[in-house]
Amino acid sequence: MRQHRVAYLPGDGIGPEVCSVARDCVDAAGAFFGFEVHWDEQPVGGAAIDAVGQALPAATLAACRAADAVLLGAVGSPRWDDPTGETRPEDALLGLRSGLGLFANLRPVAAHSALDDASPLRSEVRAGADILILRELTGGLYFGRPQGRSNADGVESAVDTLRYTRQEIERIVELAFELAEGRRGHLTSVDKANVLASSRLWREVVDEIAPRHSSVTVEHALVDSTAYLILTQPRHYDVIVTENLFGDILSDEAAAIAGSLGLLASASLGTGVSERGRFGMYEPVHGSAPDIAGHGLANPLATVASAALMLRLSLGELGAADALEAAVRACIEFGPRTADLGGSDGTAAVAGFLLADLAQRVEVPA
Ligand code: IPM
Ligand code: MG
Repeated sequence: MRQHRVAYLPGDGIGPEVCSVARDCVDAAGAFFGFEVHWDEQPVGGAAIDAVGQALPAATLAACRAADAVLLGAVGSPRWDDPTGETRPEDALLGLRSGLGLFANLRPVAAHSALDDASPLRSEVRAGADILILRELTGGLYFGRPQGRSNADGVESAVDTLRYTRQEIERIVELAFELAEGRRGHLTSVDKANVLASSRLWREVVDEIAPRHSSVTVEHALVDSTAYLILTQPRHYDVIVTENLFGDILSDEAAAIAGSLGLLASASLGTGVSERGRFGMYEPVHGSAPDIAGHGLANPLATVASAALMLRLSLGELGAADALEAAVRACIEFGPRTADLGGSDGTAAVAGFLLADLAQRVEVPA
């Protein structure tokens, strides 16, 4: 029996509800495919502030470092939203990203025809769209210093810094080309090179790396026009690579192509590699949805799809990853639907469908 160790960080709001569905699906798949996951549960976000006064306790970060992968639910709630507060749940996310060196954030977005009615886009516009957004996750405005407020000589101001080193750009762009090679061979590098110096360095690096990946066609595009084109011509895109904040914005926008933020999965990868895969953290793109938390109404599909990415990219359990992805697809096509997809079913109904689908999809060992 293969053994895997996963740091399990359910977090706040609907995080615990959606994570437990993903965990059950992984355990069920493990029983069929011959592996066992040891889930090391740790507090994070608001739940950790309540428990130990810190959004990212040292023990939580240590448990993540000791694991093969991290499964995270969501952090944040209005309860901890005081902008003057010393510590915020979101600090945990940034701390995990930098503390674990997770520089590459993969956010796949696909248009299922079964969800034509859930998307605000016309079906002929979204049909066939299948995009991988690759967001740089440990640089740019989120981490550049100086950052903060000052009040010098009576002038109140605040500053954020958009800084990228050549090496930071090289590693994300290199990965973008590799991912494009494994897909349709088209890469769009998104920047704001008509204004920003960091974007001009970004373009230079892309152009230097491109000749080593001659099977990939690469284009440069400005972020503002991409924000328009991604919704008007989503089929144009295959892999999009971009800096941290642009990727944050474009990935939420692109959720409209899928039909709901409740479907979008993500993988955040670092440099650590084992014989089974690459170390990574997996989480749904959506937030903690405090308005529906605790009512059994949350859509767990994005977290289950994130767990499938974990099985594929970090744990090397490809059969189980395929089975989870197929179960999610089946659920989208003819399973129960939560409110974000226009349905009135609950989390438990979706979980029940997924587990039943997994059970009949895989061969039960004798
Ligand atoms: C995301 C979120 C986070 C981000 C927030 C919660 C800090 O929006 O993961 O996209 O901006 O990266
Ligand atoms: Mg975001």
